[in-house]
Amino acid sequence: MLAIRLVAEPAGFDTLVLPIRPADPQPGGDAPAAGPQQGDEDRSATVAPHRPGLPGELVAEATALVDAAALTGRAGETELFHRPLREPGRLLLVGVGDGAEAGWRSAGAAVARAVARETSVTIALPDGVAPAAVRGLVEGLLLASYRFRMAQHTDDAPTLAEVVVAVGDPAGYADVVETAVTTARMTRFARDLTNTPSSLKSPAWFVDQIVAAAEGVEHLTVRVREPDELAAEGFGGIVAVGGGSAQGPRLVELSWQPPAARTHVVLVGKGITFDTGGISIKPKDALKLMRKDMGGAAAVLAATLGAAALGLPVRITTLAPLAENMVSGSAFRPGDVIRHYGGITSETTNSDAEGRLVLADALAYAVRELSPDYLIDLATLTGANAVALGKRTGALFSENDELAGSVLAAIAEAGEYAWRMPLTPDYVEYLGSELADLHSAPTQGAGSTLAALYLREFTGDLRDRWLHIDMSAPSWAEGDHRELTRGATGWGVRSLLRWLATVD
Ligand code: BES
Ligand code: MN
Ligand code: ZN
Repeated sequence: MLAIRLVAEPAGFDTLVLPIRPADPQPGGDAPAAGPQQGDEDRSATVAPHRPGLPGELVAEATALVDAAALTGRAGETELFHRPLREPGRLLLVGVGDGAEAGWRSAGAAVARAVARETSVTIALPDGVAPAAVRGLVEGLLLASYRFRMAQHTDDAPTLAEVVVAVGDPAGYADVVETAVTTARMTRFARDLTNTPSSLKSPAWFVDQIVAAAEGVEHLTVRVREPDELAAEGFGGIVAVGGGSAQGPRLVELSWQPPAARTHVVLVGKGITFDTGGISIKPKDALKLMRKDMGGAAAVLAATLGAAALGLPVRITTLAPLAENMVSGSAFRPGDVIRHYGGITSETTNSDAEGRLVLADALAYAVRELSPDYLIDLATLTGANAVALGKRTGALFSENDELAGSVLAAIAEAGEYAWRMPLTPDYVEYLGSELADLHSAPTQGAGSTLAALYLREFTGDLRDRWLHIDMSAPSWAEGDHRELTRGATGWGVRSLLRWLATVD
């Protein structure tokens, strides 16, 4: 991962990056960090005021270039100027928009792409820039420069190795940079796990990655249940869904227990390492990307590792049921009745509705054994998420307005997207079964809501402390877009870390 180095003054650079912003901010946008300067009237964009360490003639030159290229300063706009035989040899102007964190995040992403083939660049920030701006910039740089590479796949193309950030007072930004770097590192870890092909990514392999990442961290422990333990303890959903695969299922329990914690949060993530749909097999186009069906587990585990790395003072127990949903002679059948942890039974009318079966066990276990203050699950649960909200927005469900509000606020600040959806009471009756307590895949109602209503049945007396996010849609990006890169997005890591930092 690209290194971020904070310095007081820019010095000895090949490529210098200077932020620019609209001279006349759009009405309704946030005010820029500093108001427009004298002489800005005719100009579409303005060069943000910089550290005195920056030569005055460079700022004047940049100002002239803004005019010559008619730059607007909108977030993410970039223009590269070559200055042969002079220092810096290249000048990159980047728009930060209204100067809010999101604009800086887009600017960071744009810089990472514009100078992807350079080895080191220097960014000179305006004097007294807001810490949130630096957080956005660093997250944008680190997330947009991500590329998935298999370990054995070598690639000699040069990539950006270091970004020097000149901020005047480096000590004042050390914490915010640490938070941004950890958040980005864990988001990249979740992307790596999710992008990994399922031929490598068995439940056991997934466990190994988490055990290795958690090793040696104080107050962080991992417990892993193997298939025989899952069967013996009654995790019927995980055992059934994992039963068709030659690679047995696992349940990961990752616990972060800092000494001073007051609140206990349980996170649960769907970890289907490949979803064929089982005997109710998916059509071929729907199969292509089903290695991503563990994106929820990757997000909650990576966020927990991030919380530990940052020392967040909140107790977290993270449960990741890991299983491969395959077609074989030992696969569970549509119409089977499964007994979940704690005793609730499900009639499994469609083996492609497997995510809710493994989550049901984990939620029931959390309620009975862990009694947390909050119970939050993330899952690539239904194709209906994208039908309702498109490719970039998760579907959030909760009966608790305060919890929903605080999580939605964290998601928005993190730069991710989710929308609250209803737990429509009239659809509960569709969960009825003649053979079991519940019908796992009703055919009437609305896909994402039914899945959420089904999960709610396993939340017991934590029903109003529970929140579910269906992140099927935003877990994957079809192309590069701002801080997202094509493939796994690591959706949820940034949002969870923001939210966990507010819990006390
Ligand atoms: N993993 C899928 C959901 C999914 C679909 C995620 C597309 C990402 C992209 C899930 O296990 C599934 O198959 N859900 C079914 C539920 C149905 C059988 C009730 C669906 O959405 O069709
Ligand atoms: Mn499925
Ligand atoms: Zn699935």
